[in-house]
Formats: sequence, structure tokens, C-alpha cells
Amino acid sequence: MEILIRPSAYAVAQQAADIIASYVRVDHNGSPQNPGGADDDRGGDSNGGAVLGLATGSTPLATYQELIRRHKQEDLSFRGCTVFMLDEYVGLAPDHEQSYARTIRREFTDHVDIDDADVYSPAGNTADPLQAAADYEELITRKQVAIQLLGIGTNGHIGFNEPTSSLNSVTRLKTLQPQTIADNARFFDSADEVPKHVLTQGLATIQRAGHLLLVATGANKAAAIAAAVEGPLSSMCPASTLQLHPHATVLVDEQAASLLTFREYYQYADQNKPSYQAY
Ligand code: PGA
Repeated sequence: MEILIRPSAYAVAQQAADIIASYVRVDHNGSPQNPGGADDDRGGDSNGGAVLGLATGSTPLATYQELIRRHKQEDLSFRGCTVFMLDEYVGLAPDHEQSYARTIRREFTDHVDIDDADVYSPAGNTADPLQAAADYEELITRKQVAIQLLGIGTNGHIGFNEPTSSLNSVTRLKTLQPQTIADNARFFDSADEVPKHVLTQGLATIQRAGHLLLVATGANKAAAIAAAVEGPLSSMCPASTLQLHPHATVLVDEQAASLLTFREYYQYADQNKPSYQAY
């Protein structure tokens, strides 16, 4: 696991955009470039671009804004990329303003050259959410997600894998913790309007992505980050499953890093990162 500590939320977004951009750049033949060396094709898809796993929530928004800026001002093209979302509320229509299908389009994909038909999320608004979860898992199993962007809940969740989620879980229905409903109430008129149920990629689904990039900013994430990075591997902190992944990056600001015991070591490793090693 690589822990990158940046001075501000802005710097976190810049670094996250750098990392994601390294996967989406395509050369003029439509082939992904090899930023990490000859063996690192950064997950090119048959569409010609990378398969990106994206997340909603507040934290990734600054990263999306930076990627949109680079698309508009610096010719960063997402042509051929496919997007898979982490999760979706059960019972919200796809065009509901707070559905994650709508949110990712409003906040990101509508503003770049990703084909709308190539943006996938679990179908939370169907008569049979359990089947929808199985269908989504099947679909994502057929793709290799190159990089999965993740936020972290104050309770340590990734996606909507709440504490005590099976470490082997796949896409399925989950019931939100009251803490998560309270955290997300700001997006709705009241906490009563936050759906209690969601469909989420499981912890095993997330593990299959080639690279996990978890972003967190602010002091309210410090305890969850400390548990995820330095705590025991435990379903009590679903983000601790990043410890199992061969290529996981935890990208945080100073505040979110404030409870890390080995903080100085992480900064030392970052400052002494070999130039030939990609992020
Ligand atoms: P946030 O959510 O970025 O809005 O804090 C993160 C999450 O719950 O995964």
C-alpha cells in the first residue's frame, strides 16, 4: 500500500487526476500509453480506452473538476473509456438528481468525451434488486477495471460495504447504517428521504480492479483512514481490505492523515520514490 500525504484537498485532487489521467491517455492509434513501463498497459479495453471504476460522494468531486479542466484546456481525452460505478441507491429512478447514475453524469461524464452508453451502474430502481445486483456483478466480471477510485465513509466503508461486510462479498443489496444515512442526508431535503437500501459492488468485486485509489480529506476521515491503513484487516473496517491489494494507493490531505502512526515514514517513502516507479 502506498500512502501519499498532500498539504491540501486541492493537492489531493491534482494528484488523483494525475494518476487517473495516466490510465486514460490514448495515443493516436487508440492504444493506451504505457506510463509505468513496457509491462504496464494500464488496463486498455477493447473500446480503446481504460475501464474506470468511479465513485460518488463529495471527496472525488474536486478530482472530477480537475479532470474536466484538463479535458477542456489540455486535450485530455477519455475517448473509448468505459465507466463502472461502485454503487446505487435502491428505489431512486436513474434520472433522480441524487441517484448515483445521475450524479456521475452531472458531475463528470457529461462534461468529457465518455459515451453515455459506456457508463454503467447497478440498476437500483428495478422490481428485482437482487437480480439487478447479480446482473451487475456478471457484467463487471467480464471487464477488467483498470483503476477504481474510492472514497471512505466515516465508518470505514468503501462503496456501500458497511462494517461487517464479508471480505469475500460481491455486488449485492445492503442496508445502510444510520451513520451513513446521517452523513448522506445533506444531499436530500431530510434524512427520511435517504434510501435505506443500496446495491454495491462487494469487497471481492473491488479487489479485482487493477489499482485501487482511495481519496480522503478532512479531519472527520482521520480515524477511518488510520483504521484502514494501520488497523487490523477486519470487516469492521471494510477499507482495511486495501491491505490485501497488490496495488493500492491511499491519497489523503494532512488532516485525514493526522492519526497515522507511521506518517513520517510514508512521507519519507514518497519523497524517495524511485523515478522509474509509477504511482
Ligand atoms: P464523501 O463520502 O466523499 O461524501 O465523504 C465518501 C463515502 O461515503 O464513500
